[in-house]
Amino acid sequence: MSHAYRAVGWNRQKRLYDLATGLGVVLFLGFFVGGGLWRYPDATVETLLIRGLGTAAILLLHVILSIGPLCRLDQRFLPLLYNRRHLGVTFFLLALAHGAFSIVQFHALGDTNPLVSVLTSNGRFDSVSGFPFQPLGLAALVIFFLMAATSHDFWLANLTAPVWKALHMMVYVAYGLVLLHVALGALQSETAPFYGWLLGLGAVWVFGLQIVAGWRESRLDRGRSEALDSEGFLEVCSVAEIPDARARIVCLAEERVAVFRYGDKISAVSNVCQHQNGPLGEGRVVDGCIVCPWHGFQYDPATGTSPPPFTEKIPTFRVRVSSGRVWVHPQANPAGTRVEPAIVAEATGEAGV
Ligand code: HEM
Ligand code: FES
Repeated sequence: MSHAYRAVGWNRQKRLYDLATGLGVVLFLGFFVGGGLWRYPDATVETLLIRGLGTAAILLLHVILSIGPLCRLDQRFLPLLYNRRHLGVTFFLLALAHGAFSIVQFHALGDTNPLVSVLTSNGRFDSVSGFPFQPLGLAALVIFFLMAATSHDFWLANLTAPVWKALHMMVYVAYGLVLLHVALGALQSETAPFYGWLLGLGAVWVFGLQIVAGWRESRLDRGRSEALDSEGFLEVCSVAEIPDARARIVCLAEERVAVFRYGDKISAVSNVCQHQNGPLGEGRVVDGCIVCPWHGFQYDPATGTSPPPFTEKIPTFRVRVSSGRVWVHPQANPAGTRVEPAIVAEATGEAGV
């Protein structure tokens, strides 16, 4: 599937979302700089802009890191997930502008190369209040840059999915570096403890959300009925538990499976998108195709294949419905194998394969 492949149906929402993000950033920076000048008349616009850009970036980073676990906890957050990439780009541009303006402001006037100056101008590694916090920000920026530069499908294909995923998990290393950058930098000159608490609260929120979402998923996996019929099908949920055009994600034989209901049909496919491992079960069925929530790749729920001219394929699973309960066979079929959807008989809730 080409990188030009587009999700269907959310274009207007995406535009509104981008508009709201852009407006939010401009208003935030306006208030930050305007309010700063009003409160500290001696401050310069440049310094306030540097601080405003850094603050906007770190706030956005918290939002971005919260979206994934929030969606796993409550599907109502899903519209945020559909547009996370745009937030990522906005965040990177803010962080880049903050870093670039800082380098121009504090390191561009000497004889030394500005980047070398960031790394070497302060050697007080034995001091907390005077610690060279700027190289920490630079290191974080380099990681964010690598992530932004390799977000294109070309790199996913060339680096292979596990390497690509490991690289993108580095976001947590970069987040840690940003926390240190702020704690050892701006917070050292702040006398009010409020900002320190806010930073700590942000870290507890980000890591706490990940832990709670992971714990809830594993509890759901464990709590699921393990009823097994004579042909090896496992009971996974009731038909009523799957909203129309949506899925329920279950873990079978240590593999995540997305069980979709669309109209009177039920199909089960692997939860892992072939593009960048996006969680297909958090997507929905639009015009008869499962649409991945991350970047809109599409799959036929019955065959697990992308509509022509695309060639992606995901494994399918055999499904049956009996007395309003859904049963799935945990043995995955080879990617792209057609499985007749189970049909739900609406009037009685009864169904056959
Ligand atoms: C080349 C990379 C970077 C350099 C040279 C740099 C430099 C600075 C400097 C000099 C300050 C202190 C500003 C002041 O107190 O007047 C600062 C603060 C800050 N930086 Fe960075 N930074 C870099 C990267 C980053 C990145 C990637 C982030 C990610 C979000 C970030 C977030 C922040 C935040 C939140 C503050 C505190 C803002 C405030 O004082 O209210 N920085 N940075
Ligand atoms: S479309 Fe990108 S991960 Fe599914």
